Amino acid sequence: SLTDLKSIAADCARTSTGLGAFNVVHLETARILVEAAEHARRPIVLQISENAVKYHGALEPIGLATLAVARKASVPVAVHLDHAESVELIHEAVDLGFSSVMYDGSKLPYEANREATADVVRHCRAQGVSVEAELGEVGGKNGVHDPSARTDPDEAALFVAQTGVDLLAVAVGSSHAMVSRDAAIDTALVQRIHAAVPVPLVLHGSSGVSDEGMRAAIASGITKVNVSTHLTGIFTGAVRDFLEGHPAAVDSRKYFQEGNRRVEGEVERLLSLYAHAA
Ligand code: G3H
Ligand code: ZN
Repeated sequence: SLTDLKSIAADCARTSTGLGAFNVVHLETARILVEAAEHARRPIVLQISENAVKYHGALEPIGLATLAVARKASVPVAVHLDHAESVELIHEAVDLGFSSVMYDGSKLPYEANREATADVVRHCRAQGVSVEAELGEVGGKNGVHDPSARTDPDEAALFVAQTGVDLLAVAVGSSHAMVSRDAAIDTALVQRIHAAVPVPLVLHGSSGVSDEGMRAAIASGITKVNVSTHLTGIFTGAVRDFLEGHPAAVDSRKYFQEGNRRVEGEVERLLSLYAHAA
């Protein structure tokens, strides 16, 4: 069923388990992710990024399809707008019935990020929608991997108090769109931020983190684990294998099915790993 992100994240934080948050890139991705969550008997976050909205041309078709899948699920599912820099898009997601949004002001100077985030929180809170924000920029979206950005624990505490956000994305050594799984997470810093901040923490760019690294990050205080590139890589690899083995294939559903099957298996595995991290 469609559930508030704040309450699912609070449950996971209390039990020191990770909450898998995966990006819905195609209309059929939502169903695959929910099936994996139902098999693992874990809550899940289905997230649609501003980039995915650009790819689809609009939020409404993919957003409504994802909400419909979430409402039918036998496990708690949050439908979340990921990395929104457009406040207009955030308002649209709220009106469509999304459970939560991420306002990404991480490129802005502290003051501007704080003010814009606080405005988003005021609007969303009135509609019962939770808000994730980011402090300290997790890079990599421009293809350049610079995992050196760090969130300061004291500044994070101040930011959360001043804005009222429900979840905080932090820069602790990961970078977006990594293909290798060798990012070094600064778990000592995760512990310090976790001790300083009263809301669940989010790790972006989790595709770059190994199974062991993710276990350690969750045990140190990460709750929401954002993964996208790792799954699109698995999907593409499966499609490539299928087409190499079936050079005369025509029906696109045949190779999509192959990709979906392998993504579902990996998501089920990851959700179980996140559940047994501590
Ligand atoms: O917000 C989405 C995530 O941070 C995904 O990052 O593609 O590197 O796993 P990733
Ligand atoms: Zn991200």
